Amino acid sequence: MKPHITLGIETSCDETAAAIYSSEQGILSNVLFSQIAQHHRYGGVMPEIAARSHLEKMPLIIEQALQKANCSLNDIDAIAVTYKPGLPGSLLIGLCFGKAMAWAADKKFIGVNHLEGHAFSALIENNVPFPHLCLTASGGHTSLYLMHGPGNYEVLAQTRDDAAGEAFDKIAKLLGLGYPGGPIIEKLAHEVNFKDFFHYPRNNPAMIDFSFSGLKTAVLYNLVAQGICDLSTKQLTVDAAHLHKIQQEVASSLLVCIADIFKQKVLLALTHHHVKALTFVGGVACNKYIKNELAQLCKKHNLLFFAPSAQYCTDNAAMIAFVGNYKAQQNKFSDWSLDILE
Ligand code: KG4
Ligand code: ZN
Repeated sequence: MKPHITLGIETSCDETAAAIYSSEQGILSNVLFSQIAQHHRYGGVMPEIAARSHLEKMPLIIEQALQKANCSLNDIDAIAVTYKPGLPGSLLIGLCFGKAMAWAADKKFIGVNHLEGHAFSALIENNVPFPHLCLTASGGHTSLYLMHGPGNYEVLAQTRDDAAGEAFDKIAKLLGLGYPGGPIIEKLAHEVNFKDFFHYPRNNPAMIDFSFSGLKTAVLYNLVAQGICDLSTKQLTVDAAHLHKIQQEVASSLLVCIADIFKQKVLLALTHHHVKALTFVGGVACNKYIKNELAQLCKKHNLLFFAPSAQYCTDNAAMIAFVGNYKAQQNKFSDWSLDILE
């Protein structure tokens, strides 16, 4: 492998991120500006606010990534940028910026699929053997991949509707909690020891694809049946004294249900594919309860289990630089005409 330094740029959603990866020393810097505070009041990401914020922050974030890595633009061999999937306005800012930088500084240019970034993120810190299964769960995507080698993988399952993170976010909104929902749901579930109060419906056991939109409806109808939610306005009608208790019980039942669905899909995939390990990646992989459940399942089936540290679970540019590096090693560069894909 020839020594190679890659600058990674990620702007697919609400994080403006840049990172430097060295093929000899690994991650040299990983810088991120999170827009969560700007979107919090809307209970989700506002695309135009996201794009404008990327435009404002991009130069500063790249400068910081170079400084922290003790690099100048001269030391960089290639610039890798997320070009799909994501919010169009957000993707356009990152792609234009990365392309312009690479063109002006005469660097190689590599478009990276954000999902490939997540799928290989567990390899940044760990020597994960191939073949392995990769469960990716974020706010926009939930997939199960069979990973054969760097850049070589196949999709075994995808979500038919909502992503797992989206289910956490939407149900958190219904409960009057903030955004992003995942961490708040985890905290509330921990307070009541991850008990399965309402046992929401799991997926059809024979179906490899994921489905989470029914779960959102199940939570709503269960609250309506308890007489504590108005179906037409989707507003909780419970008094302040009981609000926290119901938030805890829904949060806990939801988390246990999503963990069960994940385990069910992994087990189904294991009946068809012989693998050495399971990786769990994406924003939802920050969740300690789900990680522990999956780790136990792996132990039972003699599989290794890996999840990246939190900084590489949620959106980041380190994973984009990492994928960019192995694409560069394989001479897989992109054309200047590369466009974004939603
Ligand atoms: O990967 P990511 O940062 O962005 C996307 O590509 O979507 O994932 C964000 C998602 C959000 O839906 C958030 O609620 C979820 O990850 N998330 C969690 C936790 N931390 C973040 N979900 C469950 N438990 C967590 N601790
Ligand atoms: Zn992501």
